Amino acid sequence: MIIAVDGPAASGKGTLAEGLARHYGLPHLDTGLLYRAVGWAVRESIDAPDFEARAIAAAQALDAAHLADLAALTSGEAGIFASKVAVIGPVRAAMRDYQRDFAHQPGGAVLDGRDIGTVICPEADAKLFIMADSKVRMERRARQLEKRGLVVDRYALYHQIEERDARDMANPFGGFYKADDAHLLDTTLLGIEAALRAAIAIVDGTQAHKAGL
Ligand code: C5P
Repeated sequence: MIIAVDGPAASGKGTLAEGLARHYGLPHLDTGLLYRAVGWAVRESIDAPDFEARAIAAAQALDAAHLADLAALTSGEAGIFASKVAVIGPVRAAMRDYQRDFAHQPGGAVLDGRDIGTVICPEADAKLFIMADSKVRMERRARQLEKRGLVVDRYALYHQIEERDARDMANPFGGFYKADDAHLLDTTLLGIEAALRAAIAIVDGTQAHKAGL
C-alpha cells in the first residue's frame, strides 16, 4: 500500500506520516529532507551566478551521507534553502525516480511532502492533505525546536513559515495542492494522538471502500 501525505510547512504531516508508517508497518520517506539536503549543500552559493547549476549537480549527487546531519537539516534556515532549490525544475526531476522507486518497493511505503499525491505517486492507494492554521503551525514548530534546547524567536519563525508557504505555492514546477482524490485533514484543533487516529481512520476507510466493503 502506498500512502501519500502532503501539506504545507509544519502542518504535522511528518509526524503523521511516521505514525502511519509505524501503524501499517511500512517504510517512511520524508521527501522534504531531500530538498533540505540539496539546499544545505549549496547554501554558501546562494548568490552565485551559477547557483542553479550547482543545485542541480547537488541533487544529482545526493546520497545517504548528505541526509545524516539532521540537526542542521531540520533547522528553519535549511527549510528556506530547501524552498529555494525546490523551484528549480531539474532539481525536482533529479529526485523524482528515487522517490518513485521508494514508493514502489514491495509492500509499499508512506511518503510525505508537497507533491506526493499529485506528481510523485498520483496512483497512491490513500492520499491525505494535512492543513493547520499558520499560527498553530508556528507554535508547534517552536515547541519542537525548544525541545531540542534552541531559543526560538516566534516572530521570525512565523515569517519564515509564511515565506516558505508563499514560495512553495508559487512554485511553477510544484503540484503543491490537494489532489482531487486526497482527503483533507485539518489538524488545527487536534492533538497528535487524535490527528493520527483520524489519519488511520481515513486510510482504513479508503481501503475498505476499494475492497467494496
Ligand atoms: O517538508 P519540509 O518542510 O521539510 O520541506 C522543506 C521544503 O522542501 C519545502 O518548503 C518545499 O520547498 C520543499 N519540498 C518540495 N517538495 C516536496 C517536499 C519538500 O518542494 N515533496
